[in-house]
Parts: sequence; C-alpha cells; structure tokens
Amino acid sequence: MQLAHICLPLSAKACRLGAIVALTAILVISFNIVRLWLRLKHIPGPRMSALTNLVRRSWVTTGDAHDIHTALHRKYGTVVRVGPNAVMVSQPKAIDTIYGFKNRLEKSEFYDSIMPRIKGGKLPDIFATRDEDIHRRMRRPVARLFSVTNLATFEPAMTSTLKHFFSRLDELFANKDTDFDLFRWIQFFMFDVLGEVTFSRELGCLEKGEDVDGIMANIWAYFRQVAANTQMPWLDYLWRDNPLVPGSTKKNPLAEFGFARIMERMSLSEDEKRNLGQKDFLSCFLDKQAKDSTLPSLFVPTWVNSNIVAGADTTSILASAVMYHLLKNPSSLAKLKEEVDDAAAKGRLSRYVTWKESRELQYLDACVKEATRMHPPFALPFERVVPEGGLEVDGHYIPPGTRIGINPWAMHREASMFGADPDSWRPERWLCSESKRQEMNNALLTFGAGHRSCLGKHLAYFEIYKLVPSLLQQYNIELVNPVGDWTVENKWLAKPSGFQVKISSHN
Ligand code: HEM
Repeated sequence: MQLAHICLPLSAKACRLGAIVALTAILVISFNIVRLWLRLKHIPGPRMSALTNLVRRSWVTTGDAHDIHTALHRKYGTVVRVGPNAVMVSQPKAIDTIYGFKNRLEKSEFYDSIMPRIKGGKLPDIFATRDEDIHRRMRRPVARLFSVTNLATFEPAMTSTLKHFFSRLDELFANKDTDFDLFRWIQFFMFDVLGEVTFSRELGCLEKGEDVDGIMANIWAYFRQVAANTQMPWLDYLWRDNPLVPGSTKKNPLAEFGFARIMERMSLSEDEKRNLGQKDFLSCFLDKQAKDSTLPSLFVPTWVNSNIVAGADTTSILASAVMYHLLKNPSSLAKLKEEVDDAAAKGRLSRYVTWKESRELQYLDACVKEATRMHPPFALPFERVVPEGGLEVDGHYIPPGTRIGINPWAMHREASMFGADPDSWRPERWLCSESKRQEMNNALLTFGAGHRSCLGKHLAYFEIYKLVPSLLQQYNIELVNPVGDWTVENKWLAKPSGFQVKISSHN
C-alpha cells in the first residue's frame, strides 16, 4: 500500500514530463511547418507540396516526373512551389538569373544524393560537388581537353568505333529480318567510343553484343537508387549513408571500374605506353596531375568516372531520340535522307561522316536541335540555392535559402518561346531567322547553363553529328511497331526502352 503510494505520484510525474516533451515537440514542428509555409505562401502550387517534400519525391518514384512537372507549370504558371522550401521555374529569362555567370548560385543538397559513395564516404566529382573551390580546381585543368579543337584529335578513334558498330550491324541484323533494340546498340557504341577516347580501347560492348562488366546496368541501378532521394536528401542519412544498415558502406562498382582502368595504365611499361599511339583522355589526365603536385590524387579517378557516368548514357539517349523522332515522322526522315543523299552525290560526305562535313547539313542540325529540345536526357530540375538577398523571378520574390531549379523538359515546352506546338516534333521551327534561332538556343537547358554547364557537350555532339548521317547513309531503318511509342522511365535520366527496329543495308 505504502509502495503504491510512492510509485503513483512518481509515474504521474513521469507522465506529466512526457506530455510536456511531446507538446513542446508538436509546437516546435507546427511552428516550423507554419514558418516554412508562410515563407513561400505567395507562390502557387499543389497544397500538399507546401507541407512536405514527400509529394515531389513520389512524382520521381513514378518515373514520370518530367511530364508531371510540365503539367504543373501549365496549371500554376512559370513559378511553382513544389516543396516547403522548393520552387520550380519555367520562364526562359530566369535561366540567366538562376544559372548565369553573374549570380553563380550554388548547387543544392540535391547533388549530395547523387555524389558517388566509396567506402562509406562521398567522392566529390566535377558534376556533383557543391563546393565552388573544389569545383574550380577540378574543372579548370581539364576544361580545354573538351574543346572542339582538341576533340578533333579524337575523331579517328571515334570513326574507328563507328566502323566497328556498322560491321556488327551488318553481321547480326542487316537484311536478316531480325529486329533489335536500337537504343541498346547505340548504348554499346557510345560506351565503346568513350572507352576508346578515354582509355584507348573499346570497352568490348560492340564485340560481345552485351553490357561488359555490367557497367551499364550498374549506372542505371545507381540512377534508380538515387533519383527519388534527390528530393529529400536527408533520407540518405537514414539508409544509404547509415553505417548500421547492411550494405550501406559497400563498394561502388562504377568507381572501381575507373580505378581498374587507371591501375591497368599505371602498370604498363614505358614502351607499352608509347605503343598506345594516340593521346587519350586518361594520359592527358595523368599528365595534368604529374605537372601539378597541388592536384589531389583523387582527381584522376573522378575525371575518368565523369567521362563514363556523365557521358555515355546521356549521349546514347540523345542520339536515340534523334533517330526515334525521325522514324516516327516519315516526312522529316525523307527530308533528311534527301539532304544526306544529295551531299553524298556531290562528294561532300564520306561514308563515315566527319564532324566538319556534318556541320554543312542544315536539316540535320535542325533535327538534332529539335531532339535536344524534345528529349533532354537529364529530366529533373537542376537545383540551386537562392543566395543572400533573395531573387526576383518572373515577378515573384524568392527568399534566400530556397531550393530553386528548372526542369529542362518543362522549359522546352514553353509555347512563349518555342511556338504554339511545343509538344510536337517539328525541326522546321529551327529553320528561322538567326535571331530567333539564337533566342531558342539560349533557352535550351539540355546541357545546363552557366559555370556548371556540361563539360562534355561538344564531345556528345561530335558523336551524334557523325553517327546519325552515317547511319542514314548506310541503312534503311524501320520501326517494328510504327504506331506504338517507346516507354520513357525518368530516374533523373529519362531513359527509353522498346525502340525495336529492323534494318537493311543500302550496299
Ligand atoms: C547528350 C549528352 C549529355 C547531356 C545531355 C549532358 C548534360 C549535362 C548537364 C545538364 C549538366 C549540368 C547539370 C547541372 O547543372 O546540374 C552536365 C554537366 C556535366 N557533364 Fe554532361 N551531358 C552530356 C554529355 C557529357 C559527356 C559526353 C561528358 C564527358 C565525357 C559530360 C561530362 C559532364 C561533366 C564533367 C559535367 C559537370 C560540369 C560542371 O559542373 O562543371 N557530359 N551535363
């Protein structure tokens, strides 16, 4: 009896304390929700998005975020609130405000999620690092290697892989009534080209007709794993970066792949190195490092990694988008074939078209631009953080600290910039006055913009401008199902599947 007398008041005290703690927590959370809600309450958007990032995360989970974002802009306007602290924009003039050299906005936590993990830690690379100083030190030494002038030295290597690609198509598919996935084979080609220009050897995808070392599957698995969390990066601490979760500190196959190629190179004798013949990206990277001892040794693997991870799938997707839209639109295809045949008949086109020759093909240029507009491979907003003082975007004040970004997919469907039919394939929109063409070109965000824009843009275009006219010159290509559409799954990369074709050779 006496004992109960002592215990009861004690547990009542504990209850009271518990209630106070719970109430305080509820008050703090509610206060925070209201505070965040008020900050951006003047920006239109879905109601639930003002309260939680779970909504925008769920859009990415569906694989259709690019279409959902475009629909949101059509419903709410060019500035839309997509999270308690996140805003998405589709106003062309805002490209300069958000990505321009003048403001130099920093990348948001979005990029923490995509930063490669190695042995439990994050491996900063040019693409994902949010530290502007590290970025400058990583980009500056290698930027010139990606200039058109320097890339011309790699053209023979690209042409040799193109020849290999066509010899495999002849061997396996041409005139054989056998259908195959053209996107998959363009991927084999692009991975092998990047192997050739980076390591002086194809990765072997064309030869084997398969994904060598699972590199493609690993890259895609990585994008699928990270895409949704870019919208709520703190979730990584609970799962991917949590040492208590089994597998969270496991090896990174992509980084390992790059390391293995570097070790192979380092183990070559001086004679073997000389016998490589051409200077490839890896030897240039190693030279840069040897000449500047202040560059951390981790830079070489990160440069190598960027070439493969940022360059191969993206370029395959864009090249495939050009081919897919041509095949879906026979009048465009006929027009381009006429241009190619005409140039070939006049002796202005080699069998394996050179970069220089391709630049003379105006309709080809219009088709590549139109595919660049219709199908940007990176299809989530490139997020930045609004700096001190805030930003004025299309008449809306955006306070400092807000995550702000543009989804190129939505931007490229802005009728005010691209005309009344932005959802349609119409390469002719690019055959307009030089000033309008320039204006539309400046509104293309496929390769990003400003000081964090794509380093490999010229390399990607080099490959595409050589591949597409060469393919059309040598093959008749037909869609197996001309009325169906390919499927696009957007896990930050908008990756197509179901691009089945049959080919016959012209020769
Ligand atoms: C069609 C092909 C490609 C597309 C669509 C593409 C797209 C992009 C985009 C949108 C960005 C900026 C992202 C942002 O602002 O967050 C970027 C950055 C980058 N890309 Fe590409 N890319 C392509 C090909 C390549 C290739 C071939 C390489 C290298 C071989 C490459 C290397 C890089 C690197 C290193 C960055 C980081 C640049 C920086 O932050 O300074 N890309 N790319």
